[in-house]
Amino acid sequence: MVREIDVFSHAGLVLEKMGPGVFLNSSFDGVDNTMIIGWGGIQIVWGRPIFVVLVRDNRATYSLLEQSKVFTVSVPTNNPLKQAIAICGTKSLRDFDKFERCSLTKIPGRKVPVPIIGECGLHYECKVVYQQTLSRGDIPEGISRRYYDNNAIHTVYYGEIVDQYLYEME
Ligand SMILES: Cc1cc2nc3c(=O)[nH]c(=O)nc-3n(C[C@H](O)[C@H](O)[C@H](O)COP(=O)(O)O)c2cc1C
Repeated sequence: MVREIDVFSHAGLVLEKMGPGVFLNSSFDGVDNTMIIGWGGIQIVWGRPIFVVLVRDNRATYSLLEQSKVFTVSVPTNNPLKQAIAICGTKSLRDFDKFERCSLTKIPGRKVPVPIIGECGLHYECKVVYQQTLSRGDIPEGISRRYYDNNAIHTVYYGEIVDQYLYEME
């Protein structure tokens, strides 16, 4: 069952759930994937509702996003899905199909060709309107040392939110 919500009404809950992690879903050419993100959130940019996500360029998700420019975000609300978060936050599409391994139910998105996760309660569908890869030289040294020494750089994706809703599997 779908319940319509206002685009900003659950923004605080999204930030709260970023702590343990939320699911960033992507899809291109018949291949679906999900990974965990802990950074980003809902913002207003150019007067539009934007879901900002940061994805390192060594993620399989990055390759899919670069080709499709659409994504969905599924936020666990009632069920914390700890085991699935542990797996989807450490294993890659290159290892195995995480939906299958974690018994996560793929439900087709309503406005973008990317699935949402049925076991999560809250969902956003997004189209990338802008992206920017962080410039290593512009990052303060302490942050750079901690997050980018021998590690892939993030690209920041600005996904315009084109749909948002609560979903409960029947
Ligand atoms: C709590 C948590 C938060 C994470 N946040 C991010 C993030 O914001 N951006 C990112 O690129 N990776 C993040 N990761 C790591 C990815 O989820 C992980 O590398 C994943 O295996 C990538 O999958 P993929 O290669 O199939 O895209 C996070 C992991 C955890 C456990």
